[in-house]
Amino acid sequence: MSFADYQFEIYLDGLNGRVSDFPMDYATLESRAAEALPPSLHSYIAGGAGDEATQRRNAEVFAQWGLVPRMLVGAAQRDLSVTVWGQTFPSPIFLAPVGVVGLVTHDHHGDVAVARSAAATGVPAVFSTLMEDPLEEVIGHAGSTPSFFQLYTPTDRDLAASLVERAGRAGYRGIVVTLDTWVPGWRPRDLSTGNFPQLRGHVLANYTSDPVFTKLAGSEPVVPTWARIFGNPLTWDDLTWLRSLTDLPLILKGISHPDDARRAIDGGVDGIYCSNHGGRQANGGLGSLELLPEVVEACDGQVPVLFDSGVRSGSDVVTALGLGATMVGIGRPYVYGLAVGGVAGVTHVVRMLLAEADLLMAVNGYPDVAAVRANLRRSERF
Ligand code: FNR
Repeated sequence: MSFADYQFEIYLDGLNGRVSDFPMDYATLESRAAEALPPSLHSYIAGGAGDEATQRRNAEVFAQWGLVPRMLVGAAQRDLSVTVWGQTFPSPIFLAPVGVVGLVTHDHHGDVAVARSAAATGVPAVFSTLMEDPLEEVIGHAGSTPSFFQLYTPTDRDLAASLVERAGRAGYRGIVVTLDTWVPGWRPRDLSTGNFPQLRGHVLANYTSDPVFTKLAGSEPVVPTWARIFGNPLTWDDLTWLRSLTDLPLILKGISHPDDARRAIDGGVDGIYCSNHGGRQANGGLGSLELLPEVVEACDGQVPVLFDSGVRSGSDVVTALGLGATMVGIGRPYVYGLAVGGVAGVTHVVRMLLAEADLLMAVNGYPDVAAVRANLRRSERF
C-alpha cells in the first residue's frame, strides 16, 4: 500500500458511481470551507497580519523552485518515512498546531477530531495550548500515532511547568515552544469585527483544567486572568529554564534566522521549527521557504528541522523536503478539511497531499528525499 493508491481508490469509486464529495485541490477546499464556517471563525483562520503580503508570499515562493524529472529510474516504491527523536513516521508531514481547531466542528470537539484523523493516518499532530478539550482528553483519541504538545509560555513559570508536566504525563512525545506569539500581530480582519476567540472565553480548556491556573485565578474570572498571564516575551536567558522543564524533545517554533538556530542548538534544544506562523504575526517578512535553506545549513544535521507556512499541495511538501526540511507542517489546509468534513475531511486532505507528493516522486524518478534534493533547481523566471 503506497500513498499514491489513494488516486486509484478515488477512480475505482468513480467506476462504481461514487464521486468523492471532497475537493481535490486547495482553491476549492478553501472556498468550500469559507461556506461551511461561521464568518467570524473563517476570517480568524483565513486572515493574517497587515495586508497579508507575507501570508501570500509564503505560498507564492514555492514557485521559485522546480523539480527536474529523471527517467529510467523505475521508482516503483518511494520511501517517504522519516525517523526523528527515535520514532519512525510513515510520512514526513505533520499537522501544525492551530489553536481554534476545537471550534471548527459543530460539536466544538475539533481537537478530538484532529486526533482521530491522526490515529487513522499515522500523521502526527502538534496540539496547541489553546484547545476546547483538555490535552489529556485529546491525546486519548490519537491511537498509536504519537502526539506533540505546543506550549504558549505563560508569564507564570509554575503554570508553564504544570502544562509541560501534564503533557509529559499524558503521553505527548515532544514539546514545541512557539516563540513568535507572546503578543498577537496586527490582524485587520479580526480587528474590523472586534473578534478574538480567546477573549470570548474559547479554547481555554487547558487553562481551566489546570490546578496552577485555577489557583492563580482565585475568584477572578477566567478570561482576564488568561489575558494577564498568556504572553511571555521570552529572552535567550529563559532557554535554560525552558530546557529544564522536560526531558522530552524540546523544539523551538518560529526560528527563521540561522544565528537563532545555532544559538538554540547550543542551548540544548532537540529540534528547530522554521515558520512565520503562516504570516499571521508579522507582515513585511519574507516567505518562510526563502529562509529555510539558511536555517537548515545552520542546523548542520545536528537536529531535525521542522517547517511550515504556505504549504498547500503535495508538490509544496516535496519542495520543502528538497530544501532540507526533515518534516513539513500542514496548517490551513487541514483546518479547512476539518471544516468541510470533520475527521474524514482532515483524513482526505492528508491523503490527498501525500498521494500527490508520492505520485510526483514516482513520475519524476525519485525513490527517496535524497533524490529530490539532488534534482531541485531554483528557477530563473522568478
Ligand atoms: C495558527 N498557528 C498556530 N501556531 C501555534 O504555534 N499555536 C497556535 O495555537 C496556532 N494557532 C493558529 C491558528 C490559526 C487559525 C492558524 C491559521 C495558524 C500557526 C500554525 O501552526 C502554522 O504555523 C501556520 O498555520 C502555517 O501557515 P499556513 O500554511 O497555514 O498558511
